[in-house]
Amino acid sequence: MGPTHGNTQPWRFHVFMEDGLTTLSQFLGRTYLQLTPSEQQNDAKLAKLIRRPLLSSAVIAVSMKRQDEEKIMEIEEIEAVACAVQNIHLSCTAYGIGGFWSTPKLIYTKTMNDFLELGEKDKCLGLFYIGYPGIEWPENAHRKPIEYNTKWINK
Ligand SMILES: Cc1cc2nc3c(=O)[nH]c(=O)nc-3n(C[C@H](O)[C@H](O)[C@H](O)COP(=O)(O)O)c2cc1C
Repeated sequence: MGPTHGNTQPWRFHVFMEDGLTTLSQFLGRTYLQLTPSEQQNDAKLAKLIRRPLLSSAVIAVSMKRQDEEKIMEIEEIEAVACAVQNIHLSCTAYGIGGFWSTPKLIYTKTMNDFLELGEKDKCLGLFYIGYPGIEWPENAHRKPIEYNTKWINK
């Protein structure tokens, strides 16, 4: 999956497929309405939350399982899970499958942890949407060149 400090392997995955995509879509819509104060509710956001799982072939809820002993720093456990996500993303790309990491605010709530049956110290880190893109595959990812964000120290 990826590098892991102390071999804790903190990544956990819930893969929603087939009717599970409807279960996820309904959960996201219901939870957004429950947890968002009515004056802040946004129809476009709600529609995205409901529609995206239904447009996907699979959605992986990606989570970090906190080790009971908490020997490894939490940030490192999160980093390990992020590496695993990147590897999944690279595999998808190699197969011509689209991937999209999304982090609606509600994933950081107890409601989400309960839905995924995660412990109190575990954290859902995102929804990774997988599917065949309905648009042409983008030529460029529009990232700044490495010179922009890297400093080389030679002496
Ligand atoms: C940790 C993390 C969380 C993200 N959350 C969101 C999100 O909630 N909504 C969103 O539109 N993009 C989010 N993104 C960005 C997209 O996953 C994606 O990288 C971005 O749309 C650029 O597309 P590209 O990677 O194909 O160039 C997130 C990226 C990361 C690394």
